[in-house]
Amino acid sequence: MARHGIFAVRDVGSLVGATSAEGTQLKRAVGTTQLTAMGVGAIIGTGIFVVIGKGSAIAGPAVIVSFMLAAVACAFSALSYSELASSIPVSGSAYTYAYATLGELVAWIIGWDLILEYGVSVAAIAVGWGGNLNAFLDAAFGYALPDAISAAPEEGGVFNLPAVLIVLAITFLLVRGVTESVKANLVMVVIKLAVLVFFIVVAFANFGTGNFTPFAPAGVDGITAAAAIIFFAYIGFDAVSTGSEEARDPSKLPLAILGSLAICTVFYVLTVVAAIGIASPEQMAASDAPLAAALDQGAGLNWAAAILALGAVVAITSVVLVIFYGQTRIFFAMCRDGLMPRRLAAVNQRYGTPARLTIILGLLISVLAALVPLGTIVELVNIGTLFAFVLVNIGVIVLRRTRPDMPRPYRVPWSPLLPLIGVAFAVYLMTDLPLDTWLRFLGWLAVGLLIYFAYGYRHSRLRATDDAPKG
Ligand code: ALA
Repeated sequence: MARHGIFAVRDVGSLVGATSAEGTQLKRAVGTTQLTAMGVGAIIGTGIFVVIGKGSAIAGPAVIVSFMLAAVACAFSALSYSELASSIPVSGSAYTYAYATLGELVAWIIGWDLILEYGVSVAAIAVGWGGNLNAFLDAAFGYALPDAISAAPEEGGVFNLPAVLIVLAITFLLVRGVTESVKANLVMVVIKLAVLVFFIVVAFANFGTGNFTPFAPAGVDGITAAAAIIFFAYIGFDAVSTGSEEARDPSKLPLAILGSLAICTVFYVLTVVAAIGIASPEQMAASDAPLAAALDQGAGLNWAAAILALGAVVAITSVVLVIFYGQTRIFFAMCRDGLMPRRLAAVNQRYGTPARLTIILGLLISVLAALVPLGTIVELVNIGTLFAFVLVNIGVIVLRRTRPDMPRPYRVPWSPLLPLIGVAFAVYLMTDLPLDTWLRFLGWLAVGLLIYFAYGYRHSRLRATDDAPKG
């Protein structure tokens, strides 16, 4: 039965067809290795270099288990992302999948929700970048930028200049073209993996077992509460799916999604074990740059801490790049569908990128980055992302029913069981986040609904006669 109004769904064929419409066509230029590197580029950043401190404050040494728990929770959703990304290789990730499965209203909600995961988090990540830059300048040259130009008003500054500069630099790179952007990302990914290997080797050379007891001072509750925060460290494997319209071979997307998650999990577990081997959870929790602090205060290696801080700056640069890239592609899809102003989706003929959209987003994000402290944004980003995971898992189950014959280069095994486990894990981690976070999240969704009914519902392309709803 056809569904209309707010529950109208986009037909998968028409979604794929729209990707070749004149004026809004992206280049299929990104290979599988580059896509995997995009995943790693998006994943390893603020989470392992900064948020690890907060996790160890909550769980103690058992933060190691929190890292594993968050990885397992992500793995189930990664399977679902893999199925949908390879079957619907269209920009927009979870937003587009929802449009094809759960209807326009849910698609809008998820698109709006993804602004938290991508746009808002870019501002926060940029702030983290600025902080690490300052830590490096301090460690290497004994000079740090004054608070007035390196901190948000709430933290005693006027505005955060480094955060603004990194956002504008990445905006420029993304406008210039996706090929240039993924090349730059590849270099940064190699550097950040090398920096983590450096940390792991140095830490294991100075390793002791003293910090491992008591192992779980806050019990199982501490482990799961920390996992809900540490989850931030894994966000990004799904960013691979936002670029599926530019993948040279979409059937390889599952390899890139699952591969990047697997690589990062191995690095994270080794890193966190190594860290506890040289520093106490208290030492890490007290620092804005916990891994550098582990080397400096835990192992007494100041020179190594300086190298690590510089590595963190490079690592976080690629997170800003890929997550911002993801935001532009999701917005692009929403504009093309008419839920946002369609003229914003114009692709620049010279660069083959949605340049106008990228510049507008870059300016908005840099204003946020200038004025917003890192603080609780991590939790807000997490709840938004987990909510997207819930809908993606449900999307797999729904699409199997509504479009059983559709070609699927990759299928989640034992569906609907594994997608349902993915839902359960995501909901479980969401319930571990504070009430404040829930209230902010619900407020954000309420604003989104107002915008949908004021603009998107009336301008949706799906309601135009040439693109009738299918059910
Ligand atoms: N996973 C990304 C990071 O840790 C968002 O920075």
